[in-house]
Amino acid sequence: MYQTIILGSILVATLYVLKHRHDPKLPLVPYKIPIIGHTYSYLTNCEEFLKQCRREYGDIFSLYIYGQVKTFVGKEHSHEVFAKDDNFSFGLAFNKVFPGDVLLSHLGEFKNSTKVLKDYILSKLKFYTKRMQTSLLLATQKRIGNCDEPKAFNNLYHLMTRIISTPIANLFIGEEESKYEEVITTFAEFTRDAAGFLAIPPFLDFIYPGLQNYVTRITLRLGLYNPTIKHKDILIKHIKTQVLKRLQEKEKLGDSWERPADFLQDLMDEENFDPNNVNYPLMADKMCIYIFVSVHTTSRTCANAVMDLASRPEYMQELYEEQLEVHKDADENDILPFEALDKMKKLDCFIRESLRLTGNISGLPHVVLKDYTFSNGLQVPKDHSVEIYFDDTYGDELLQGSNPKSFDPFRHMKTNPSAAKVTKNFLAFGGGKHACPGRYFAINEVKFFMHNLILKYNFRTESGKIVKKKRFGPMAFPSSEKVIFENRSK
Ligand code: HEM
Repeated sequence: MYQTIILGSILVATLYVLKHRHDPKLPLVPYKIPIIGHTYSYLTNCEEFLKQCRREYGDIFSLYIYGQVKTFVGKEHSHEVFAKDDNFSFGLAFNKVFPGDVLLSHLGEFKNSTKVLKDYILSKLKFYTKRMQTSLLLATQKRIGNCDEPKAFNNLYHLMTRIISTPIANLFIGEEESKYEEVITTFAEFTRDAAGFLAIPPFLDFIYPGLQNYVTRITLRLGLYNPTIKHKDILIKHIKTQVLKRLQEKEKLGDSWERPADFLQDLMDEENFDPNNVNYPLMADKMCIYIFVSVHTTSRTCANAVMDLASRPEYMQELYEEQLEVHKDADENDILPFEALDKMKKLDCFIRESLRLTGNISGLPHVVLKDYTFSNGLQVPKDHSVEIYFDDTYGDELLQGSNPKSFDPFRHMKTNPSAAKVTKNFLAFGGGKHACPGRYFAINEVKFFMHNLILKYNFRTESGKIVKKKRFGPMAFPSSEKVIFENRSK
């Protein structure tokens, strides 16, 4: 009897709190099951479910997911979220689900990470173009190699992480250390291991919003589990070898010392670098941030592009002919000048289409920093969470042209924006002041890689059909269906 009364009271109190926590000015889609709310539909039938909500409630609507009200913002207002960075923060929202500050605890307040990336790497893309291509060629040769006999690869994403990591490691930790397989493995696997926390659905948030993140942080702080330690140890080991070697050589050779050009040397040239007291964990943590943002994103883009083309071999010849033409500018080592990237117009369009149809239905959560009124009059309160409803933008005929959900590789030929260009109808790199600063680096890498792949191989899916992405809730991942590679006959 008493148990029933207590349980009943808890239920009533919970429902009361849930009902009153929601801002009345935002349309909350009604739900039937308390506590669970819309979580089930969001996870199992996201595409159709959000479409239906959009039809019935308009461009901005709220759902009750994992114990919290979350607002979804469609095509008419997404750009407001990107543009108003004093009102919306992606970084803060990411912090709420990912314990980056605990994993990379030596960073402290490393607030200018984007500026450092721009100064040390992104401003030198032309200078680094030869190294990027040489590394990609070697890595492709090593990981895919001779396919006189057809070879099948059943996990493109895994393969791509190894290939994509090679030039990234080369530019970050240097030419010499990037030759070690364990370094490439660390670059390739760091993000997957660190982001393992994101793969666990936040079930604890049903009990109290934020509880899952709290428990993850405690687990890390107590040293009970930390999947990134092995990677950081490897980075520290190789950074140390290289730093000591460079310091010794510099002292020995004096003016005839040739300064290595890479991110590591840029760190060593910083004013506060003390050769007698080198902070190796800090240097490793700095590298980890950039590995985290660059390797997974670029590898996934490559895996999707290869799978999209393998699924549609009818476009292969046209792309091949373009690459043959572009390759006339290559030197005897198959290295292209930086300017050749602009000539890969069809390939660029293909990659943009592949990025457009990556398959994520919604994402890029942002925390509301202060009360905000959207241009349609709807208000979101401080601390609220909003998420971008990508599929609304990508499924719109006015924004995308006819058959917006079908893969049309030359859809962008008329307007011809580069695959890296941020526009209102293309959200792969976010938008506004925080739009991905590494997007030209990434697209250059993908283009150089695809250029060589198309010149060297024919590839197709094993089934001969268009392969669908793997889906988990609103997110999509490259399929692991086999792709068959064969050398092109010369
Ligand atoms: C195809 C590959 C990539 C994709 C799809 C991608 C996507 C994104 C997205 C969606 C954001 C959030 C933007 C926003 O808040 O509006 C972002 C941020 C960022 N990306 Fe990328 N990215 C890619 C590659 C890279 C690479 C290669 C680097 C570094 C070399 C990089 C560095 C960053 C940084 C530093 C930020 C944070 C910017 C800020 O908060 O101001 N990304 N990226």
